[in-house]
Amino acid sequence: MKKIILTVLVTIIVLFGALWLYMLSGTYDISQLTPHNSITKWMINTTKHHSIEKGMKENTVPDLSNPEITISGFKMYNKLCVECHGAPGVEAEAMTKGLYPKPPTIYKSNDVLEAQEAFWIIKNGIKMTSMPAYGPSHNDKDLWALTAFTSYKLGKMTPNDYKDWKEKYIVK
Ligand code: HEC
Repeated sequence: MKKIILTVLVTIIVLFGALWLYMLSGTYDISQLTPHNSITKWMINTTKHHSIEKGMKENTVPDLSNPEITISGFKMYNKLCVECHGAPGVEAEAMTKGLYPKPPTIYKSNDVLEAQEAFWIIKNGIKMTSMPAYGPSHNDKDLWALTAFTSYKLGKMTPNDYKDWKEKYIVK
């Protein structure tokens, strides 16, 4: 028994030692321009999926049918999100070419996120990506307005619709 415990302990110490040496060696490429290998990608995506699925269940979607809520969400989206996610007829900023992972063009997605999930992501952000958490800067009312616009309206807009809303609702 003692021998087994000792072997396990030595193996753990050797593995941590090897990891420590690897970390100090500078071999790991931390550049945004080098994608993760497929195992790391799988680990990140699986962990992310389950973490969001667990967290989002705490949210109860309020009544978002009042068009004023969507309009308020549009104004915030245009100010805060368009630089990374773009919008119909509006390109994301050039700096998104250098982000890893690249922000998805939400409005083109066939798989628009349901409100419960989108709200969690907008409120909490996603670790180790450039998706910020808006919870510290915005109250839940604003976050639900952003969610209403992102989940229910954005994907249905044409470039002309988006332009019209900008002319109508954004005060210059
Ligand atoms: C600095 C860039 C940046 C800004 C600004 C930003 N996002 Fe994101 N967002 C990202 C990235 C990157 C991802 C993808 C993260 C990943 O791959 O897990 C993302 C993911 C998302 C997703 C999940 C999309 C999906 O299909 O999985 C939603 C919803 C979202 N963002 C909404 C917003 C909203 C709403 C705003 C503005 C309030 C915003 N984002 C601002 C970078 C940004």
